[in-house]
Amino acid sequence: MTNSQAQQQHAFDAMILGSGAAGLGLALRLADHAQVAVLSKGPLADGSTFWAQGGIAAVIGPGDALEAHINDTFDAGAGLNRPEAVRLVVEQAPACIDWLVELGVPFSRTQDDSALHLTREGGHSHRRIAHADDATGRAIEETLLRHARAHPNIHLFDHRIAIDLITARKLGQASDRALGAYVLDSRSGRVEIFHAPVVALATGGAGKAYLYTSNPDTASGDGIAMAWRAGCRVADMEFMQFHPTCLYDPRAKSFLISEAVRGEGGHLLLPDGTRFMHDFDPRGELAPRDIVARAIDHEMKRLGLDCVYLDISHRPAEFINEHFPNIQRRCLEFGYDMTREPLPVVPAAHYTCGGVLTDLAGRTDIEGLYAIGEVASTGLHGANRLASNSLLECLVFAQSAATDILTRRPQAAAATAPTIPPWDDSRVTDSDEEVIVSHNWDELRRFMWDYVGIVRTNKRLQRALHRADLLLGEIDEYYSNFRVTPHLIELRNLAVVAKLIIVSAQARHESRGLHYNQDYPTADPALAQVDTVLAPQPGRHGPEPRICSPIASSAGDLPHA
Ligand code: FAD
Ligand code: SIN
Repeated sequence: MTNSQAQQQHAFDAMILGSGAAGLGLALRLADHAQVAVLSKGPLADGSTFWAQGGIAAVIGPGDALEAHINDTFDAGAGLNRPEAVRLVVEQAPACIDWLVELGVPFSRTQDDSALHLTREGGHSHRRIAHADDATGRAIEETLLRHARAHPNIHLFDHRIAIDLITARKLGQASDRALGAYVLDSRSGRVEIFHAPVVALATGGAGKAYLYTSNPDTASGDGIAMAWRAGCRVADMEFMQFHPTCLYDPRAKSFLISEAVRGEGGHLLLPDGTRFMHDFDPRGELAPRDIVARAIDHEMKRLGLDCVYLDISHRPAEFINEHFPNIQRRCLEFGYDMTREPLPVVPAAHYTCGGVLTDLAGRTDIEGLYAIGEVASTGLHGANRLASNSLLECLVFAQSAATDILTRRPQAAAATAPTIPPWDDSRVTDSDEEVIVSHNWDELRRFMWDYVGIVRTNKRLQRALHRADLLLGEIDEYYSNFRVTPHLIELRNLAVVAKLIIVSAQARHESRGLHYNQDYPTADPALAQVDTVLAPQPGRHGPEPRICSPIASSAGDLPHA
């Protein structure tokens, strides 16, 4: 028996999982030529894009140069970046800003209205961050959504959570390609089939693997886990970025205080008012994020502090209110006035630098399956993402994936699709113990924070791996017996992603960028260009990772190379 009522089926030229900057960017680039479905697991604007604050980097200001942006990206990424990805993104950045301006994104402008106002963030040698006050992501998301809603070929589905990809190999065929996905309609509780010869993962990152994160609840690594289960390689998962400054207040849920606050002169202080960042890096508060987050972590542990402080109150109140209206409003709600006092801040998990391994067109190991945005590992970020390069990466890769998809489309359409079996939930029942799911969520996020956080050791990683394996076993059993729910789907994915992070961290016997292991405290020059690449192979509770690095980051060992 399958779903008791007839299973809902949909067919499109392309389906895109995710309605953030990457997903909507791709949809808008494809829509004049194809029927496109865009799915979001909650409301359409629920991803990280909506919450982005600081802005989007591009060389458009006087005195700046493409080479400077390229060098800053390499410098932040500790040299691990793939050079061709860095060049592609930096060179395409000005055109991306033009595109957003044409679509109507209300970027902040200079006082004389002659140009876009550019702010500065850590790791950037120039002012080059285009922004819409301190709510750039919201401005971009709302603009892209408005255009997507108006396009007759874009079909938006909210509250649809993809469970797993459907591929030819899963259906027993010898050569693999994407065919669609099983999707839970979380309002009706029914599983639907989406058929499409082109499937794009634009599902964002996995910050929810950690107890404290700036990310919204959507960031449970679903796309990485689905691609992994389908047979794709993942890369550089050990490089989880911790943002140095989230508001330290239990009511604030790690609300981000933008790096632009430091870019515009904010100081990091100990409780006695001493600045400390120059003890760690000559760039002080404007050092790249890995350095700032580690310095804060060091000071908090050294002095037994709950938080440090971020102070911009020495700048005029009008300046602060004009540049950071949303941050100031939110802080006031919690009783902090940044025009008058320092804000209590702590680091929190912020960005997944690794992900599904792709080439420069967003192609993965599976024909017809693309990964773009935070879900992907394109090689742009190396061992640490430079601030405000992420929204940019989403848009550049949306464009290059669209070009590739439209070029290959005749091939995709010509392929005959095998019959897709309906979702079979005949042998499962409704869970009577949801508490197991929420307990496992908490446990996973806590051990990831304690053992696989800003500072790691071999022993902590080994402990984390042991716990991840136990959880994977329990979740697998639970998944086989009970009807899927959004929480169960996310937990299953988070556990997979947690293991990929741990195994990647164990594989890197050095400290580089965001990965700091006390047992190997320095960088090993021999690993300077070696990505951590994991390939799935059959295991007891789903695919087990096999390390297939070293690959030289500039080598051609990329999907379909
Ligand atoms: P998201 O915008 O996260 O969208 C993911 C989408 O996938 C959502 O629609 C979600 O519902 C959907 N989805 C997920 N799983 C499923 C599933 N199983 N089925 C169906 N749909 C699914 N970057 C910058 O460059 N500049 C900044 O100033 C900046 N500020 C930031 C501030 C904050 C607070 C945060 C959290 C991030 C910030 N970043 C910034 C990072 C940047 O916002 C993200 O990396 C980027 O927006 C990711 O876009 P995306 O399209 O890949 O994914
Ligand atoms: C911020 O505004 O600090 C976030 C910028 C980013 O994550 O790139």
